Order: sequence, then C-alpha cells, then structure tokens
Amino acid sequence: MHTAIRNWWPFAEFVGKYSIRRACQCMPAFIALCLLLSNAQVQAQTQTQSTNQNQSVQVLHWWMSSSEHKAVALLSGRLAQDNISWTDAVIPSGSGIGAGIVLKSRMLAGNAPEFAQLNGVIISEWADLGLLLEIDAIAAEGKWEKNLFPSVWNLIRPRQHPVAIPLGIHRINTLFYNRKVFARFELNPPASWDEFEIVARKLQAAGIIPLAQSAEPWQVATLFETLVLAESDAVFYREAFVHKTAAAFTDARFARALTRLRWLKKWMPQPLHENTWTDMTRMMADGDAAMLVMGDWAKGELNAWGIVTDGGFSCVAVPRTAAYHLYDIDTLVMLAKDASFRSAQEKIAQIALAPAMQAEYNQIKGSISVLRNLEPPKNDRCAQSSWKVFSRGSAVQVPSLAHRMATDEISKDAIIAEVMRFFSDDKIAVTDTQRRLAAISRNLPK
Ligand code: GAL
Repeated sequence: MHTAIRNWWPFAEFVGKYSIRRACQCMPAFIALCLLLSNAQVQAQTQTQSTNQNQSVQVLHWWMSSSEHKAVALLSGRLAQDNISWTDAVIPSGSGIGAGIVLKSRMLAGNAPEFAQLNGVIISEWADLGLLLEIDAIAAEGKWEKNLFPSVWNLIRPRQHPVAIPLGIHRINTLFYNRKVFARFELNPPASWDEFEIVARKLQAAGIIPLAQSAEPWQVATLFETLVLAESDAVFYREAFVHKTAAAFTDARFARALTRLRWLKKWMPQPLHENTWTDMTRMMADGDAAMLVMGDWAKGELNAWGIVTDGGFSCVAVPRTAAYHLYDIDTLVMLAKDASFRSAQEKIAQIALAPAMQAEYNQIKGSISVLRNLEPPKNDRCAQSSWKVFSRGSAVQVPSLAHRMATDEISKDAIIAEVMRFFSDDKIAVTDTQRRLAAISRNLPK
C-alpha cells in the first residue's frame, strides 16, 4: 500500500498537468479499489475500547496556529468531561494542502484516524465511497435541518445522510487593516480600487508595505478568487469556479481579475516569499504592512495574540465585494471504520453543535456559527457583518475555490497552477492565461 501511494502521487501530478480528463476517469476506480482493501484491513483489526471508559480518538487536522490551537483545546477540553480524549494528528499546512494527502495515505495503509478535517466538495466524494459515518439520529435529535444554515446542511448531507460535523463559517473576502497606521496617515479603509490606490501610494511613499501577501499558492488563490468576485458577481464567479465553463475563463471579467492581481503586486512585499498566513497576519499587526486580504481566521489569530477587533485592527469587505460572502466552512468527518468508536464519534457531533460551544468556538476561531440563529457578539463588527451577509441566503453566498467549497481537488489545483504561473511571471499575457484555463476547463470533471 505504501508503495502504491508513493507511486500514485507523482502519477496524479503528471496526469493533473497533461491529461486531467484521463486522470479523472481512472482515479476514482483506483482509489475505490485501494480503499476497499484498506477498509477490509481496518475492519480486521480488533479494538476493544468500551465507550464508558476513557476512549481516545485521533483527529487529523491542520490547525496549529495560536487561535486554532485554542479552538481545538476548547473542544477537546469539553470532550474530556465525557471521557473522550482527543489525540491530535496535526499536519502542518495552511489551508490543509498536506492534510488531505496524509489522510488518503493513512486510509490506504489501513490506519485511518477516527476523525478528520475534510472541507467542502470532497465530503461527497468520500461519502460516495462509503467511508464516512452517517449520523442521521444525532442530526435529527439536534434538529440540524432546521437550525443550520441551509447551505451548511446541504454541504454535510451529500447522499441525504449527514456525514460531517459543521463547526464554523469563515468569510474570505475580508480586508484587514492596521488602525494605528491608518490613523497616523489619516487614511480610511478603501471601498473601491481607486481609493485603494490612493491609500497604497501614501503608505508606500512613507515606507510601509501597503498589502501583506505571501507567495504560497493557496494564499495567492485566496486573494485571486476574491478579485474575481470583485470584478464580477456571484453568478459569474460560479460560472468560472463551480461550473468551469470555458466561456467564463475567456470573459472580460476574468481578464480584469487577472489584471487586478498583477496590478496589486506593486503594493506587496518585494521580493515575495512563501510565508505562512500567520507571518502575514503578524506583518500587518506590527504595522510593517498596512493591509491584508485573508479569511477571517486571521481575526481569530489577532485576538489570540491579544489584539482586539477594532482596537489594533479592523476589517471591512474587500472593495466591491461587500454584498457577498465568499465562504469557507470547516467540517470534521467521522471515518466509518470501527463500530466501537461510534458512540464517541456521535458524542462529538452533539457537543460541537451545542449553542454555547458554537458561540465560544467561533469567537476563538474568527468564524461565525453554523447555527443560523446564533448571532455573533454585537461588539464584533467583522463577525456581525459576516453573519448579516451570510444570512441573506444562497444568492449572495459564494463558495471558495481555494478552500475547496467550489469544486473538486483536481479542478482546484489545475486552476490555481495556471493562476500561479501568471502571478509569478509578468511576461505571461492575460489572454494566454485565459486561453490555457479555457482549454483546461474543457477537460475538468463537471
Ligand atoms: C482554511 C480553514 C481555516 C484555516 C485556514 C488556514 O482552509 O478552513 O479554518 O485553518 O485554512 O489554514
């Protein structure tokens, strides 16, 4: 199995580049076969833990910053009261790039954890393979269908059976700014790109980096998807990243987003490095940079560092995106591997969705609750605005590409790879990138 995995990833990379359609045709069957074998292996293992005694569950996730650690500690501390000990299997990687790979290889090796952070469209792929525990009774008891935002309920219920525990909803189209720096130069947060330019020029003349930004592909993609929304609307965004129509990629609105991305480079640190998102958040907090476009997990992080919202920093929507909520929903899935873990797995689902837990967890994490009636604290204007916009319903809710809400992993990676090529090489023409994306999109799974 280990050899199979080692062999498979370079293969996936290769076909991802050169023949996405063929890869998509072959891979599900290959994965299904391997997973069936590994499942049989897992089931053959005997585990004799009793649910009344202390039971240890492994949770594979990628949360390791200060705020993420606090959020995990909150959940695990509460579980300990029910004799469930949460054992971390942390795979350090912003946005979970490595975590998905490790999860697959652990499945193939017959060594699956009991829980895993698995976000977005991929939930339904894993459910289709019969790998996830269905928790219909827990969801019915907690009235999840009525209490969750409908889009959250739909996401976790791919085959009409709930298979994931939703934890919180992040807003991606968030512009953070350092209040001290803005006050010193008598600046207002920009509501348009023209205003952004005026602000950025003043900051740059004073030796301050206008926009903190890393060269990590997922962070560039997080910025870029926001720009696509800013240059278009929710319908167009879905045409590009959910339906992946070739026409969307050759559209003038897509060209404008690419041009905007290139334009923004002059306001970023020079040269760009692949810094972590916490480094970028720190750069903005320290005033070395004045602004940051990032999911609102950065708010959780700033708060965890003792910097209060509307104290050291504030947030507004990225210019021209205030009407929309570009979302990323965090979810934990339960691997259906061994019945002796079932009651612990169900217990976690109940605990995580309790209103008091939801309120505290999301305050720490920077997100808003998945419970539609749980309003965030009045004094947290970032969360208030996120909650108000998200509550307006599916027409304004826009699924993040970079954070797996819009499409499958292969499509996401193929699109991001092209955007990165464009971002890294100023000689590539906008129209070339558009043409390449349109060609790729014709071969992506729909
Ligand atoms: C997102 C995830 C967030 C946060 C972020 C940075 O994909 O949903 O909870 O962890 O990545 O790693």
